[in-house]
Amino acid sequence: MTKTHNGLNETLKTIFSLRSIRNYSEKEISKEELNLIIRASVRAANASGRQSYSIIVVDDKHLLKKYFYAANKGLLFCVDFNRIIDAAKYLSHTFASNNLRFFITGSTDTILAAQTAAIAAKSLGIDSLFTNSVHREELNVVYEDFNLPEMYCFPLIALCLGYASKKPKYLKGRLKNLGVIHFNKYHRLSQQELDTLIQEYDDKEKHIGLSWESWKEMGFKHYLDWFYTRWSQEIPKEKLQEFHLALKKTGFIDPEWYCNK
Ligand SMILES: Cc1cc2nc3c(=O)[nH]c(=O)nc-3n(C[C@H](O)[C@H](O)[C@H](O)COP(=O)(O)O)c2cc1C
Repeated sequence: MTKTHNGLNETLKTIFSLRSIRNYSEKEISKEELNLIIRASVRAANASGRQSYSIIVVDDKHLLKKYFYAANKGLLFCVDFNRIIDAAKYLSHTFASNNLRFFITGSTDTILAAQTAAIAAKSLGIDSLFTNSVHREELNVVYEDFNLPEMYCFPLIALCLGYASKKPKYLKGRLKNLGVIHFNKYHRLSQQELDTLIQEYDDKEKHIGLSWESWKEMGFKHYLDWFYTRWSQEIPKEKLQEFHLALKKTGFIDPEWYCNK
């Protein structure tokens, strides 16, 4: 692929133009486009050729409203080993995915597929938003809403797809080097470097934080003061217990559960 005059080829331009959209127009994503996005998504690398995920394609208006910011289409990415377990049973083999390592590897497959879908969509001019809306709802309701198997399947992330009705005024920034990129060995930030980091968040031109809150007007010295005290609310214990229970039910984190039981 050739580079353009500013050094960016079409793929890089697509990646650099990614941004989250939270308001969607009525404009439809065509079947062909959706199909291309899904085909691209499943091209992502995956461990042991297992593609340890299921993608629920959503066009049900109620579900779109509930979980996908009323976007035109939604993709729910779930780490999922049921297909490979069922095939094993069918062939009279045993295949156990009852461990955390499978969960981590499967989650990696799943997230790679999800991000690939977002990039593919953007390359077609289709906007997106990742949301963990499924984790805010009661998890047993989520399992019911999407008919997910309780075992060896866990909804990881929802991807909203559609065309923006309201565009953001600017692209959100990112931390680029300090404390993010490490060379050869992990480098813990010094106090001086932490000062630089705090300033990066405070720099309104960089738009690194969640900038829809005007933290300065609220009297905070630093963006991160607002972030730690106002944004990062403690998750209620009951919610954490519910989350843990749902994960336990999947069988990934409890060695007593075996797929062939
Ligand atoms: C795991 C994950 C969960 C997210 N959940 C939400 C969400 O529930 N609501 C929302 O408005 N944005 C959500 N986002 C989007 C982020 O807020 C957004 O990516 C970030 O602010 C950077 O903005 P940008 O994507 O426009 O560059 C989520 C992103 C990720 C990766």
